[in-house]
Amino acid sequence: MEKKRIITTSAVEQEQKSETSLRPHSLDEYIGQTAAKENLRVYMEAAKSRGESLDHVLLYGPPGLGKTTLSGIIAEEMGVNMKVTSGPSIEKPGEIAAILNGLSEGDVLFIDEIHRLSRQVEEVLYPAMEDFAIDIMIGKGPTARSIRLDLPHFTLIGATTRAGLLTAPLRDRFGVIHRMEYYTIEELEAIIMRSSRILGIKTSKGGAEELARRSRGTPRIANRLLKRVRDFAQVRFDGEITDEVAREALDLLAVDRLGLDPGDRRILLTIIEKFDGGPVGLDTLCAALGEDAGTMEEVYEPYLIQNGLLDRTPRGRVATVRAYEHFGRVGSL
Ligand code: ADE
Repeated sequence: MEKKRIITTSAVEQEQKSETSLRPHSLDEYIGQTAAKENLRVYMEAAKSRGESLDHVLLYGPPGLGKTTLSGIIAEEMGVNMKVTSGPSIEKPGEIAAILNGLSEGDVLFIDEIHRLSRQVEEVLYPAMEDFAIDIMIGKGPTARSIRLDLPHFTLIGATTRAGLLTAPLRDRFGVIHRMEYYTIEELEAIIMRSSRILGIKTSKGGAEELARRSRGTPRIANRLLKRVRDFAQVRFDGEITDEVAREALDLLAVDRLGLDPGDRRILLTIIEKFDGGPVGLDTLCAALGEDAGTMEEVYEPYLIQNGLLDRTPRGRVATVRAYEHFGRVGSL
């Protein structure tokens, strides 16, 4: 079969292209997300054996956890093309109609940031997802009429960091819904070793572990830090990433022992210093930080909560004892 390609359509995807060489191309190569992987394996095999396209898939969770990568793998494993686009880049109903009309039987249409689709564009998607058809209005005024255009059977893969913002009718049309989880240290270590092999970087086990521990549970961050630490290893040391080299370089990069970046630290320190450790309401905290509440809830907080540094309580956000300890402070608890 002809080698399938990934077609990119926006600047966001252009940027993501730089990650392409490190991306795994099969489920066997893909490390982590075990539950999603094993379920998808079954759904894909079943769809293939029935000669059908895979049901529509919604992947949600914090950025950098491999939603685009996993979608590319689904397309490759199904032996179909993937067309990539994003919610904000589709402005008019006619644009989504043209994209859908350009698909071939079985193709994957990947829509990143799907929560940012406009209402009118979403409405074109409903019959497309359900009946593989779109209704097109011809003419204007009293003589206007709509004709139904059949589409190939395709798979929509929607990705979002903001599952809460998806409308119910759109969410309900996905047959498979998966939450992407943060990666364990061991999984990140394996990803770092794999990337090191591909990029020709000498990385010791201790070096990979140090990088993994400070990657915020996120492969995209792990691969970015790996490249930056390699620069330090080459210029300041003999080229190998050992635990000592990784520690020194990551300290210089302002990534701390728990993988917190300056943004994470500012949130925790604001709660501790300005609000006495909390509880502080989300809106008040966001106003103090100049941060958007949605980004706070879906990008920053999940990692801080998972690591026991922040609590969401009915009365607001609270910095935990562990957060106080991390910053070497005595709590007011
Ligand atoms: N590179 C980035 N994410 C990866 C993953 N989940 N598995 C293997 N390599 C990766």
